[in-house]
Amino acid sequence: MLQRKRLPPSPWGLPLIGHLHLLDRMIHQSLQKLSNKFGDVMFLRLGMVPAVIISSPAMAKEVLKTHDLIFSSRPFVLVGQYVSYNFKGLALASGDHWKNVRKICTTELFTVKRIDSFLWVRVEELCYLISSLAKAPKGVDMREHLTVLTFNITSRILMSKRFFGENLVGEDLTDAKTFKEVMHEVAEIGLQFHIGQFVPDWLRWIDWSIPRVKRIFAKEDKFFEKVITEHKKSGGSRPQPDFTDILLQHYKDEEVVKGTLMEILIAGMDTSACTVEWALLELVHNPEVMKKAQEELDVVVGRNRMVTETDFSKLTYLEAVIKETLRLHPPVPILVPHMSNKACVLAGFDVPKGATTIINFYSISRDPNVWEHPTKFWPERFGQITADVKGQDFELIPFGAGRRMCPGMSLGLKTVHLVLSNLLHSFHWERVPGESYNLDEGVGSVTWPKSPLQAQLTPRLRNLDVIFNFAQ
Ligand code: HEM
Repeated sequence: MLQRKRLPPSPWGLPLIGHLHLLDRMIHQSLQKLSNKFGDVMFLRLGMVPAVIISSPAMAKEVLKTHDLIFSSRPFVLVGQYVSYNFKGLALASGDHWKNVRKICTTELFTVKRIDSFLWVRVEELCYLISSLAKAPKGVDMREHLTVLTFNITSRILMSKRFFGENLVGEDLTDAKTFKEVMHEVAEIGLQFHIGQFVPDWLRWIDWSIPRVKRIFAKEDKFFEKVITEHKKSGGSRPQPDFTDILLQHYKDEEVVKGTLMEILIAGMDTSACTVEWALLELVHNPEVMKKAQEELDVVVGRNRMVTETDFSKLTYLEAVIKETLRLHPPVPILVPHMSNKACVLAGFDVPKGATTIINFYSISRDPNVWEHPTKFWPERFGQITADVKGQDFELIPFGAGRRMCPGMSLGLKTVHLVLSNLLHSFHWERVPGESYNLDEGVGSVTWPKSPLQAQLTPRLRNLDVIFNFAQ
């Protein structure tokens, strides 16, 4: 006799749409509310797709460590098909192709040596940022500045090209504008839910967002085509091959190169910028935390130089501020969805093969059974507990854990440390008078603050222009 499957607890669903009507645009928040009722392993039907939602450190460990191999695939997402060249990139791919691209990325791009060799790029972009902030009118929109910085860092590392900046003219400027437009559109539609993901393969055509996604893809493809043509023409003229050259050496199929570059650019651009913006917003909101962080900088660095990477290990309070920001405001609160490539059992429940598996870190990071005063921004908590973000402590997994863990973690953390520390060291930060501050989250493929941080800056270091090497 066939045994009935024992699925995890689940709310009542509707015919056809299943539980989709229970999710609003803030998916992580809707899932948190549901799992508070139905438990840390919950079953949902997203249209025709079975889904398992994980909301505790113990269950996250089961998925990302004990059964890591089973959950290392990705489910179908619309952008994977259209924007990522039919899953030929890295972040949305599965199986042998993903293993292969990931191996090349980890051995050629995300190594300590390579990331260290691009320190000068991070410092140069930081100097451009400080220079433009020093000259900016009062009431600076930090999001715009921060995304330009992280985008330039990533594009210079990947393709030896700086796309945004004051000195760009002519064709480069047109490229930059087009690229910015395309990347923001891709990021916006990125990991949102689309109807085509929740119907059987043969019905996917009904998705009304397909025409828009195709239009974005056409612009994106034109851009990457140009990057590749330029690289092929100039091949060998660089003292060291960049990552685009390396990918072109490995893959005859240029779609793999384009898809991988696009996904890494998107993954690297908003995540680090969003972390710095949230940290600044919390510090402007909590002046006593700001004061402590700046006092630490005065003691460790002094007022006559910029903060460098060698200072980081001594800036323990700053590190706690960054961990606390990643806990309370994770840029990717539900990680990137995983998928079970085999049936398995979790906490005594059956998980079917092909189940979309969402690890809701947002629920974990705001669970009062896991964290004391979970909604309070309180860096001091890391004086007493040793949890780190590096994928070993499942109560703190803003970068995920296991095989699918973020390969850009080290680059992301180095960028966030360098930029945040120097921004705090260089300027006094104040609210713009009359500007209301709230800590609500916005909608998007990363979780930005709902309203961009507007701040009033005054220099804190006397020789800012000399220290950061620019003319006032
Ligand atoms: C504060 C900064 C960052 C955060 C919080 C972050 C977070 C994440 C998360 C949560 C995932 C999904 C993990 C999973 O599937 O379980 C991920 C994947 C990924 N991240 Fe990051 N990330 C950051 C910075 C970066 C940077 C700077 C890059 C590259 C320049 C990058 C490249 C990637 C890639 C390529 C993947 C997909 C990996 C795969 O599917 O195998 N990330 N990131």
